[in-house]
Amino acid sequence: ATMTLTDEQEAGLIEAAREAGKHAYAPYSDYQVGSALLFDDGAIITGSNVENASYGLALCAETVAVSRAFGEGRRGGLIAPAVTGPPDKGDGAPITPCGRCRQVLNEIAQLGGTDPLVLCVGKGEVRRVLLSELLPHAFGPAHLV
Ligand code: THU
Repeated sequence: ATMTLTDEQEAGLIEAAREAGKHAYAPYSDYQVGSALLFDDGAIITGSNVENASYGLALCAETVAVSRAFGEGRRGGLIAPAVTGPPDKGDGAPITPCGRCRQVLNEIAQLGGTDPLVLCVGKGEVRRVLLSELLPHAFGPAHLV
């Protein structure tokens, strides 16, 4: 079931993502990303990107946040992930999760039967898109049973 967020919930979630972005370890790209996942019990779990001297091993903020959620025992209940980029980079357009992160988000979404509303945060704009729009016809855990 998809839920709508109140303005307050949305603002709080975006603020949590921005705060998480401050902890990004991104010395190679200098592109700090923050992510915050809102769950149906009100919990917010955050993550930021973690790069590596072996560049290709970088972990995106969304993947780190989902991993933290799994590590805390969550197996569903994801309502809304938010993602923020650095304020001073790019053209200010909303930043959307990369392809791999869409798949990673889909795992926890499908487990709980939700179609999360993804908040893609830009300079002056928040783009709200369902995960199913970002990743149509997703492969997921249900295919394996
Ligand atoms: N990155 C994220 O953390 N999330 C995204 O959705 C896009 C890209 C990170 C990966 C890398 O550390 C840096 O941004 C530049 O690509």
